[in-house]
Amino acid sequence: MKVALVTGGSRGIGRAISIQLAADHGYHVLINFRGNKTAAKETLTIIENDGGTGELIPFDVGNADETQKALASWQKSNPDAVVEVIVNNAGITKDGLFVWMKPDDWKTVLDTSLNGFFNVTQAFLQPMLLQRYGRIINIVSLSGLKGTAGQVNYAAAKGAIVAATKSLAQEVAKRNVTVNAVAPGFIATDMTADLDEAELKKLVPLNRFGTADEVAHLVSFLSSKKAAYITGEVININGGIYS
Ligand code: NAI
Repeated sequence: MKVALVTGGSRGIGRAISIQLAADHGYHVLINFRGNKTAAKETLTIIENDGGTGELIPFDVGNADETQKALASWQKSNPDAVVEVIVNNAGITKDGLFVWMKPDDWKTVLDTSLNGFFNVTQAFLQPMLLQRYGRIINIVSLSGLKGTAGQVNYAAAKGAIVAATKSLAQEVAKRNVTVNAVAPGFIATDMTADLDEAELKKLVPLNRFGTADEVAHLVSFLSSKKAAYITGEVININGGIYS
């Protein structure tokens, strides 16, 4: 059984990626989620109705112990399963000006995005290196590249993953494991539901927010064998906002 793990796969971009990886490549998708089981089940139902397979795997990516236990126990029950693709998608925002930022808003954002990358990726990296094949895709953000006022915590977390992506890519390339980042701009999901889309789309040369499906197609390509010669790269998907 060939497997792809998508963190935060219950909704939004993670859901779209889970569906796409099952549809395009026949992956059995491990749909990670933290709280919303109903939404995660909906993702699985969509995959199954489409003829694919998957399963739910709840854990908080920011909790090292919980993540390690969940992934080790899954691998123990599925000794022949090979995780070929890891999509580090789980992420949260706790926006606010840095001068007023609560230590907890700094910590939880870094715990989810940055420490989540560590906790999840390390759990499956060794088997990937042994099987000499793997695709690791990290969902970062325009904020982590250009910086955004009110998102010092989020930009720090995403910017750190960009640097980690480039570094890990160099460590594992000889084993045919690629590591890339995808940096979305404004994508219409729950995360951006409170933003003033009519106003903000004026900043976007393509004059609209992107869709989760558009991000999922890019991630699907990077997950494929066709993307074998792309590694250590950050691919923007932002409708043309570069400043
Ligand atoms: P969303 O809020 O709709 O979904 C986030 C997902 O992550 C949810 O399924 C949630 O349950 C999960 N999650 C959050 N914390 C978790 C944890 N500790 N453990 C496990 N799962 C957890 O957000 P959206 O928009 O789908 O975002 C997905 C990724 O894309 C995030 O990393 C986000 O930072 C990134 N992104 C989103 C953009 C947008 O405009 N929507 C723009 C740039 C990046």
